[in-house]
Amino acid sequence: MTETGPVREAVPHKMTLPEQILSPRISIYEGKLSATDIHIVWQIPNKEIEREDDDMSETMKTIRTRRSIRKFQDKMPERELIDRVIEAGTYAATGRGKQSPIIVAVLNKEVRDKLSRMNARIMGAAEGTDPFYGAPVVLIVLADKKMPTHVYDGSLVMGNLMLAAKDAGLGSCWIHRAKEEFESEEGKAILKSLGIEGDYEGIGHCVIGYMDGDEPEAAPRKDDYVYYVE
Ligand SMILES: Cc1cc2nc3c(=O)[nH]c(=O)nc-3n(C[C@H](O)[C@H](O)[C@H](O)COP(=O)(O)O)c2cc1C
Repeated sequence: MTETGPVREAVPHKMTLPEQILSPRISIYEGKLSATDIHIVWQIPNKEIEREDDDMSETMKTIRTRRSIRKFQDKMPERELIDRVIEAGTYAATGRGKQSPIIVAVLNKEVRDKLSRMNARIMGAAEGTDPFYGAPVVLIVLADKKMPTHVYDGSLVMGNLMLAAKDAGLGSCWIHRAKEEFESEEGKAILKSLGIEGDYEGIGHCVIGYMDGDEPEAAPRKDDYVYYVE
C-alpha cells in the first residue's frame, strides 16, 4: 500500500536536544501517506539512525495523530467502542489514587441537545449554534471538589478519553464551559435527576463520534516547548 510522491523535508520538533542528538529531520511524502513512507531521521554525530514509522509504537502514533475534530456524522458509534473509550477514561492516574472524577455518558439525543443549548448560551453564541459540532455522544467529566487535585484528575481523564477515541477510530474534541454548565441550577438539576449527589465541578465535555471529512494536521510544535536539564 505504498504510495509515492515527491519527498519534502520538515522539522517537526525543533527543540533543545541533548547534545549527542542533533537536528531531527522527518522525511515525508506529499499527499497520501502510508505508514512505511514515514522515516524519522535522527542525526547523531558520525552516525545516522533511521527509524521507520513502523518502529513507532501504536501508543505513540495515537498520541501524535490525535486531533480535535469539529465535524461529525450523525451516526451513533457502536456501544462497544463508546464503552472502550469510557474505560480508558477510568484508568487515568488520579491524585492519591482517589479517582475523584466521574464520567456522565450522554447518548440520549434530547439530553445532548439540551446540554448543547446550555453550552451555547454560556458561550454567548448565536441561537442554533451547536458547540458539540454534531457529535452524537457527549462524555461529561466532572470531578469531586473535595480532592485538591480534582481539576488535574479530570483533565487527565479527558486526555485519556480523547486518545482512546482516536484509537477506536472515532473523532473527539474537548468542549469547555462544563464548569459554568454544572454551576447553573439547570446543570445541577440534570445531575440530581441522574442521582448524582456531591460537590462536583464540571471539567470538560469530550464529544465523540465518527468524523465527517478529513482529519486536520497538527500545528507545528513550538520551538521552546522543551528544556533539558542534564
Ligand atoms: C482545556 C481545553 C478546552 C478546549 N475547549 C474547546 C472548545 O470549547 N471548543 C473547541 O472547539 N475546542 C476546544 N478545545 C480544543 C483545542 O482548541 C485544541 O486542542 C487545540 O486547538 C489543538 O488542536 P488539537 O487538539 O487538534 O491538537 C479545548 C482544548 C482544551 C485542552
